Amino acid sequence: MPTKHILLLPGDGIGPEVVAQTTKIIDWFGANSELKFTTSSALIGGSAYDAVGTPFPAETLAAAKKADAILLGAVGGHKWESLDISKRPERGLLGLRKELELFANIRPALCFDALADASTLKREIIAGLDIVIVRELTGGIYFGTPRGVETLADGTRRGFNTEVYTSPEVTRIAKVAFELAAKRGSRVCSVDKANVLECTEMWREEVQKLHDREYAHIALSHMYVDNAAMQLLRNPKQFDVVVTNNMFGDILSDIASQLTGSLGMLPSASLGNPGTPGVYEPVHGSAPDIAGKNIANPLATILSFAMMLRYSFAALREADRLEAAVRQVLEQGLRTADIMQPGMKQVSTHEMGDAIVKALQQAQALAA
Ligand code: IPM
Ligand code: MG
Repeated sequence: MPTKHILLLPGDGIGPEVVAQTTKIIDWFGANSELKFTTSSALIGGSAYDAVGTPFPAETLAAAKKADAILLGAVGGHKWESLDISKRPERGLLGLRKELELFANIRPALCFDALADASTLKREIIAGLDIVIVRELTGGIYFGTPRGVETLADGTRRGFNTEVYTSPEVTRIAKVAFELAAKRGSRVCSVDKANVLECTEMWREEVQKLHDREYAHIALSHMYVDNAAMQLLRNPKQFDVVVTNNMFGDILSDIASQLTGSLGMLPSASLGNPGTPGVYEPVHGSAPDIAGKNIANPLATILSFAMMLRYSFAALREADRLEAAVRQVLEQGLRTADIMQPGMKQVSTHEMGDAIVKALQQAQALAA
């Protein structure tokens, strides 16, 4: 494989810490497999705002466009909450998604057996869970116009955002979900609020049309988002692939993360058209309260790199090896604070990164 360039966007809060652990893994694969990587870093989010006055510098976009894939930590923090919305850290991430047109956000919620007791939910509800949320990422209310806050003549204020989708936008994300389902359990549940919102009623009709036309071999169901939120907690294993809009996907994927034990475990891939670099990032945020303390869980970011290996570099064997190393370390009882349980050994962010490298090394030695 030719050398691949990975752009690192550590961002804010715990972002730099979890990305630093993942670079150990990147280096390990570079030194111990057929894969060859180069990396560089750029600014995004609040740290970019502090350094250069914008959460999404032009140099970052230029570097992103040139990369083969992008690994992002997290953006945001209390420090920047009072800034105008156009300058907030989140604009960096949203800008990156929009500029690269990364419309498909894949968020697999997989419960490692060793963590089935780490969730606030009962073991039998989540043990063996393996579902994927496919979230539309460049449309909907996140980007719709008109948007804003206006002051009315009587001095009161009116805030407004717009939920908007075109049928091609719905079709292309539904296609991603159907294709993914075809490689898994062959079931797609499309989540909407078609009983109230016209836009999502159109969503439902378009998903159904595409299904009937091209994916009749996949079992398609539709569910209202309020029910879907409840069903994810009641009986998550009824799902295989869930496809939904930008905002519902944001919310449902946080729920899904808790089904895996901790928000610190959920990776994601944001993909666009072929030839566009994918962005790989943990679903969790910047967690400013624990930043810099060497206690954050790097596994969601490390698992995001596994997704990069799989989706951007077609390095399926290496992705499997990395996921096996994560599973093994969890089975050895090593836990960061967020997934700590009685009888287990609590480790720091760094120690967790080192443990994964060691597990990779040992597996390699055994195979040799
Ligand atoms: C996510 C995050 C982002 C989102 C924020 C940080 C803009 O919550 O990736 O789920 O809302 O999409
Ligand atoms: Mg979110």
